[in-house]
Amino acid sequence: MSRMLVTYFSAEGTTAKVAAKLAFKLAADVFEIKPEKPYTKADLRWTNPLARCNKEKFGNKEVPVEGKVDQFDQYDTVLIGFPIWYGGAPNVVNTFVSSYDWSGKKIILFATSGGSGMGKSADKLKPYLNGKGEITGARLIKGADDLEKFVREVKSPKESE
Ligand SMILES: Cc1cc2nc3c(=O)[nH]c(=O)nc-3n(C[C@H](O)[C@H](O)[C@H](O)COP(=O)(O)O)c2cc1C
Repeated sequence: MSRMLVTYFSAEGTTAKVAAKLAFKLAADVFEIKPEKPYTKADLRWTNPLARCNKEKFGNKEVPVEGKVDQFDQYDTVLIGFPIWYGGAPNVVNTFVSSYDWSGKKIILFATSGGSGMGKSADKLKPYLNGKGEITGARLIKGADDLEKFVREVKSPKESE
């Protein structure tokens, strides 16, 4: 039987809620991508040039992840969820992605945002896959309708537009 994993990073809880609903509806396992050092409110204040989020982004820094997915090999579809930061996935997601072997895996992205779309999130994440795996979908989830539509797409990709 094919197995599905929902992975996600969430700094402020919005993406976490979406991920929990998705995992339930898809009967998938879940792995939360947590930075070794949790973000404080001050760390996320992007209006402050010296805030951690800006230092990581503009310093192109790796952000170490706590723990590892158990038996990553067993999954053939992996969903990766995140909040849009600066038009793409946060650095901690890049670090997470670069530390696994994605050979033969189908990868589907989902995100929440303050208003931006997915933009070039998929293209920006691609280099961290080291040429392995395939991103087959990417969707911004704004509400319950988007979530339902996304679930249908993930369950039967051929029927989606
Ligand atoms: C450092 C930082 C950068 C962000 N950059 C963007 C952005 O470029 N576009 C956008 O629409 N929202 C941006 N946001 C807002 C988040 O994407 C939005 O609030 C998201 O739903 C938060 O998800 P979370 O609660 O799972 O962390 C940013 C938030 C933070 C903290």
